[in-house]
Amino acid sequence: MAVLPLVQGADNPILRKKSEKVKRIDKKIKKLIMDMIDTMIAAEGLGIAASQVGINQRVFIVRLNSGTKNELIVPMINAEIIKMSEKMIEDEEGCLSLPKKFGTVKRAASLTLKYQNQHGETHTLNLHELNARTIQHEIDHLDGILIVDRLEAELRLESAEKLPCPKQI
Ligand code: CO
Repeated sequence: MAVLPLVQGADNPILRKKSEKVKRIDKKIKKLIMDMIDTMIAAEGLGIAASQVGINQRVFIVRLNSGTKNELIVPMINAEIIKMSEKMIEDEEGCLSLPKKFGTVKRAASLTLKYQNQHGETHTLNLHELNARTIQHEIDHLDGILIVDRLEAELRLESAEKLPCPKQI
């Protein structure tokens, strides 16, 4: 297991590339998942996508129910949102690949998601609020989309020297 270097920058071509579907969950993918978990924990993130460690495959890790006793770290492979609420929530959001930047992003309040776990089993989950936000942020990473593309107003992307955004994803 290892903490990997983070790919950073809004114009980085790795972060901007659409990631490919995982065809086979082999040893390499399982090792990548373990390293991504270490990297996310070291960076104190709520999630991390494979593109953020330089791999354009549809894999991400999320920390669900963050800060509660039900906190769960879940690897997700080939995740797809199958339903999204019409209700939207605006909240502050940061990204591990855009250090010291944060802004307000509007996201669906809840969603239904389908994904494969590291054993290749398919699961469906209904998620709300911050959990749903984290998933939408990660799916964006898989599609080469960053929060700078979704900010309500670009002026709101500020340097957070004194007050780091707690929701770095
Ligand atoms: Co991010």
